Amino acid sequence: METAEIQRRFLKFFESNGHTVVPSAPLPAIEDPNLLFINAGMVQFVPYFLGQATPPWNRATSIQKCLRTPDIDEVGKTSRHGTFFQMNGNFSFGDYFKEQAIRFAWDLSTGSVESGGLGLDGDRIWATVYLDDDESIDIWHKQIGLPLDRIVRRGQVDNMWSMGIPGPCGPCSELYYDRGPDYGPEGGPEVDEDRYLEFWNLVFMQQERGEGPAKENYEILGDLPKKNIDTGMGMERLAALLQGVDNMYEIDQVRPLIDKTSELTGRRYGVSTSHTASESHPDDVRFRIIADHVRSSLMLIGDGIVPSNEGRGYVLRRIMRRAIRAVRLLGYDKPAMPELLPVARDCMAPAYPELAEDFERISSYAYGEEEAFLSTLKHGTTILDTAVTETKREGGRTLSGAKAFELHDTYGFPIDLTLEMASEQGLQVDEDGFRQLMAEQRRRAKADAAARKTSHADLTAYWDLLSEHGPSDWRAYETLDTESRVVGLLSEGRPVPVAGAGQIVEVVLDRTPFYAESGGQHADAGVLTGSNVRAEVLDVQRPVKKLVVHQVRVLEGELVLDDQVEARVDPEWRLGARQAHSGTHVVHAALREVLGPSALQSGSFNRPGYLRLDFSWRSKLSETAKSEIEDVSNRAVREDLPVAVKYMTLPEAKEFGALALFGETYDETVRVVEIGGPWSRELCGGTHVSHASQIGPLVITGESSVGSGQRRVEAATGIEAYRYLARERDLVSQIAEELGAQRGDVIERVRALLQRSKDAERELANLQAKMTSGRAAEYAGAARQLGPVKFAGVKAPDGTKGGDVRQLATQIRSHLPDGEPGVAAVVAAAGGKASLVVAVNAAAKARHVSAAELVKAALSGRGGGNEDIAQGGGVPADQADGLLDEIARAITE
Ligand code: SER
Repeated sequence: METAEIQRRFLKFFESNGHTVVPSAPLPAIEDPNLLFINAGMVQFVPYFLGQATPPWNRATSIQKCLRTPDIDEVGKTSRHGTFFQMNGNFSFGDYFKEQAIRFAWDLSTGSVESGGLGLDGDRIWATVYLDDDESIDIWHKQIGLPLDRIVRRGQVDNMWSMGIPGPCGPCSELYYDRGPDYGPEGGPEVDEDRYLEFWNLVFMQQERGEGPAKENYEILGDLPKKNIDTGMGMERLAALLQGVDNMYEIDQVRPLIDKTSELTGRRYGVSTSHTASESHPDDVRFRIIADHVRSSLMLIGDGIVPSNEGRGYVLRRIMRRAIRAVRLLGYDKPAMPELLPVARDCMAPAYPELAEDFERISSYAYGEEEAFLSTLKHGTTILDTAVTETKREGGRTLSGAKAFELHDTYGFPIDLTLEMASEQGLQVDEDGFRQLMAEQRRRAKADAAARKTSHADLTAYWDLLSEHGPSDWRAYETLDTESRVVGLLSEGRPVPVAGAGQIVEVVLDRTPFYAESGGQHADAGVLTGSNVRAEVLDVQRPVKKLVVHQVRVLEGELVLDDQVEARVDPEWRLGARQAHSGTHVVHAALREVLGPSALQSGSFNRPGYLRLDFSWRSKLSETAKSEIEDVSNRAVREDLPVAVKYMTLPEAKEFGALALFGETYDETVRVVEIGGPWSRELCGGTHVSHASQIGPLVITGESSVGSGQRRVEAATGIEAYRYLARERDLVSQIAEELGAQRGDVIERVRALLQRSKDAERELANLQAKMTSGRAAEYAGAARQLGPVKFAGVKAPDGTKGGDVRQLATQIRSHLPDGEPGVAAVVAAAGGKASLVVAVNAAAKARHVSAAELVKAALSGRGGGNEDIAQGGGVPADQADGLLDEIARAITE
């Protein structure tokens, strides 16, 4: 059974049993500051379990995309670990409990394939329960009919589930499938978890845990307000069972990647995949790293992560680099992503069609990252080679830990790469030193993260306000002005009754006209005024869904809880914001009109007068493309295209051609903003003008690169666009005045000036060459006689550069008498270092005088060149004179 089919059956089963199908949250865990990525199906429901928010449904089901990276170094070593996986879940929020949850799991698992079930053999299923959970044992035995010898009691580590951090938790019951004697000894999950494969975890979520170790001996804070169900079925494991294959690497969503890799590299997978082998062949490890990581990269970029050096972006970068490097170690040295990523797409698109739609953008990041890493590899290789040569020259056999760390830290060289490349050149690496430096760095990073970390507890004050007063009555679309009551006042996250002049506090109002920052639009500015208070609004955010929080500075009087205030948005500000936001949509549509539909926005920001928009594009925009985009934008303004706002369901909006941002979750009803009908349709919650002419002039002020495959355009709108143009005009006036020219002649005049300065430079260079040549004759004339050899040793004027030193030496040589042996040596000092060039004529060469030997004699073995001419340097400048003496001595000898 294909994985996509398991997905369909799972959702259908629970939907027909009264569950609402909830889309997977995007992989980045944005709402949870403790997590980088969603790592379990229940993460998006945590506030419901904790009673911090009211769920819109009592029953839900989802297929959640998950990523776990703590044991990334283990991935591939066995076939058990992977980074990306999918968790199929059904959830009850205070609705059904143990009995029904067990019944559902059993019925779906063992239901016949014809009747929509998964067709597992009930006689091979085992169940585990938490130590004293007799109730579950009863349900398994008496209601389901599972024999008692296939029900196992297990302790806290195995059968008490929590996220490993403070949050909801509860005892669980797990379903295992017996894969038969080929996989290990009999005796149930306590004996062998390879033979008995866990495939479904039913958590009876009923308590809240506090700080403490991840798996046991943590503090239980108390009971949750309701008894809930959270189940997680491992999609990949189930797919392996139903497809009759050994592990997740063999299933339909993964195996084609291994086959493609095999085709590219000519290597064979499966040298050691027997499930009893304890250690894998290195090639098999690489195959699995590639398959897992390419798939994870696809899913991560699909959900809006881009490679970077921080946080989530760094995890992606690391994953990609491990894959690229594994490909290289299998002997394939061309870019592999363009071969592999489309295979991953074809594997995943049946379940995630958006990956195919968005593939242009996804692949441009992936290919760009691979290109960048391959050039890093090249560059790092040079650094490594130099280090190896140096180590050898100094007689060492071990590359220092510091060098290995530098390669890792600066050039992204994994240590195993350094180890391998060093050993190819006969060196070892000080791994202990390296690991020590890594540990130090990790300690620093941890300390940083701890300093930044906020936890669920920090959001508690907001959740409390939300449950006490309900969602903010948000009027930003209708009015700039509301009569409001102060329902919440927080100072540094804690409720306070009053705030005095000068204080900065957070304010929650029952009703507000303020736009909270979102969708790239900056928060509104404005004031709160009451009979005894005036406060300036500095920022407006929505830290938890549906709660608008204003950060304000009290200017006069006192802001008191329960006060009546007038909340007023600065109308100038809002007009500017509307212009800038509509301007952003216009520029986006213009980009796509000029560059084509693949120029898709990946992020944006706008505030009054300014907008910027990031989009996927490989190369710098030409001047023509830029002015075309500007023209098309201003055409929309001139044509005064109407702006309309429509509400519809997400599928309707997609049908309607509205552009949605990847990686966002949208509510059931979405808001579509269109400008000029189909010309620009985007899902957007921002504030907009009602006709394009209200945007005013729109001027592109910049275009730059923001990471590989990503460009940024910046523009000014409204009065700021006018001011920008006025500044440019003043600049031209000033230049014209400096030049004493008419404005229209400025370009001509600047060209002429540049030409003159070029001519003058050329003339100067000629004169200098003549002077050098004149001096060369003089120097040659003053040559000393050392035995049979004429020696002209010269110190060039300070600051003479390398090329000129060389030229002077050859010119002196040409002025030495032809038939007699002659040597010219020139030293020069620049930047605190001395350099030396020696030139030898034919007659001297005939007497076995060699330029290279002379340089080596003067510089104790260093320097390079041949018998005719050679150079060297790098010694301190004050040794320059000494070098000439050394050469004279060497000639005499
Ligand atoms: N939360 C549980 C798990 O992740 C069940 O969904 O295993």
